[in-house]
Amino acid sequence: MTGAMARGLARLESWFSSGFLDRFNPFHFLGALTVCFLWIALVTGIYLFIFYRTSLQGAYASVEALTHQQWFAGGIMRSVHRYASDAAVICLVAHLLREMTRGRFRGPRWFSWLTGTPLIWIVVIFGITGYWMVWDEMGQYVAQSTATLLDALPIFTEPMTRNFLTDSAIGGRLFTLIAFIHLVGLPIVIVLGIWFHLMRVRYPRINPPRRLVAGSVLTLLVLSVFVPVTSHPPADMTQVPGPLELDWFYLALLPLIEASSGGVVWMLAAGGTLLLAAFPLLPGGDRRKPAEVYLPDCSGCSYCAEDCPYGAIDMVPRTDGRNFELEARVNPDLCVACGICAGSCPSSSPFRQRTPLTTGIELPDWRVDELRARLSDPPAGRGVIALIGCEHAVELARVDDDRVLAVSLPCIGMLPASTIDHAMRRIGYAGVLLSGCADCDCYHRLGDRWMHERIDWQRPPALRRSVSRERVEVCNLKPGRHAELKAAVAEFRARIEALRDDEDELDRNTERCA
Ligand code: HEM
Ligand code: SF4
Ligand code: SF4
Repeated sequence: MTGAMARGLARLESWFSSGFLDRFNPFHFLGALTVCFLWIALVTGIYLFIFYRTSLQGAYASVEALTHQQWFAGGIMRSVHRYASDAAVICLVAHLLREMTRGRFRGPRWFSWLTGTPLIWIVVIFGITGYWMVWDEMGQYVAQSTATLLDALPIFTEPMTRNFLTDSAIGGRLFTLIAFIHLVGLPIVIVLGIWFHLMRVRYPRINPPRRLVAGSVLTLLVLSVFVPVTSHPPADMTQVPGPLELDWFYLALLPLIEASSGGVVWMLAAGGTLLLAAFPLLPGGDRRKPAEVYLPDCSGCSYCAEDCPYGAIDMVPRTDGRNFELEARVNPDLCVACGICAGSCPSSSPFRQRTPLTTGIELPDWRVDELRARLSDPPAGRGVIALIGCEHAVELARVDDDRVLAVSLPCIGMLPASTIDHAMRRIGYAGVLLSGCADCDCYHRLGDRWMHERIDWQRPPALRRSVSRERVEVCNLKPGRHAELKAAVAEFRARIEALRDDEDELDRNTERCA
């Protein structure tokens, strides 16, 4: 089932990539989009609260006044508030499904997974309390259903439902309390929850690209103008609420209370949450061993600690008596074995005359020596290309070309930039084509960014400036996009051959002049 879901999501993502380009594909920013929509809900909520009256009589009337008397401001704000909240749930669920289908709940990622789970309920409670505040028939239904749900727990001496039998039983204080929970309590819990959720994620992406934010705000505004949110008739405790237009994103569980009982809904919710929380215990997902430090090759430069996307490397005082202040130390419980640190270590340079090639830090299951050895055996002939990719991106094996040598790494960020130089200068490749995960969608979050910065001389250890950048190309593609990869190889080869013709021409001219 997860396989079918993964394929469905991947197809949907591909469509979005065709429409938005990879770097603006909303699927690549689902966590950040959830944060963005929650911010929009918070800001619009503050505006609405300025005009909101926290009393039985005032609540409905003030929301109605906001909606109709100042439709151009309060009305739009109310609709944007509702639609942004719905969008936050859509992004949250899509974020969860995406992390699930990509297996990003295993190993050290268990922490982000486990701390994400309660956020679902906190966001749902946030929405439920919002519906309550309108105090229309929907608010009445939500209040009565949640009271039934709370009564199923052995915590109140008096049944909560008794508070909703007549209008007089409902006090104004209840509205102040709900407004406080909705506007102050839950937002604080959500912010703390997100902070906790991202505690082990280094440089988390919490802001989507500006264009995506602008597009999202515009969509919310257009929806709000053309399909404005309105209230149901006012709540009346003497009447059963009429037919309601339920918001299934937040209120899907409530009809279940009516159909079964509060106890059954608690059991379903608790069971579902436990099942989700237990995902990291699932077997499978063969994990590589965590990175290891080799002190004789570590100069304590800290590049690896800077680049590790999971904060798994600490720089600690030197323990081997060598004349360096610090040394790298890996926390195996945090290491996801992406290999990025091997690409950051200056000692990973294949130019070093050492066999086997050792380095300051690397994956014991995928050593830089193996990378040098694999690249050192290119196919015969002129114009051979080294195609270096990532095992989470497009499959390199599908490029059936006898003048291409393909090597797949755990992450493209594992590639030491000096390897590109070595491949062309020492081994004789005509060019190097790098193929990592699609733009802004690196499986290990930062590998693709570091690789770009290293070859563009913005991040140490950078590619040597003397390397011809025309002979280095990047073609980041999602899995399955073989045809595009083949086309990229063909295009790159044509470019290299044109360069070679130019160089041959230059050589002939130089000989003639001499
Ligand atoms: C309010 C709800 C949530 C928000 C705002 C949120 C936001 C985020 C953000 C911003 C990131 C960092 C993304 C990056 O930098 O690449 C992230 C990572 C992650 N989230 Fe969430 N998240 C939420 C709920 C969840 C839930 C419900 C789950 C799953 C149960 C989940 C699982 C994860 C995992 C596993 C990662 C780490 C991915 C990695 O290590 O590469 N999140 N989340
Ligand atoms: S392999 Fe990846 S997660 Fe582990 S220490 Fe190196 S950079 Fe950090
Ligand atoms: S990048 Fe290499 S040399 Fe620098 S601290 Fe890390 S292991 Fe040591």
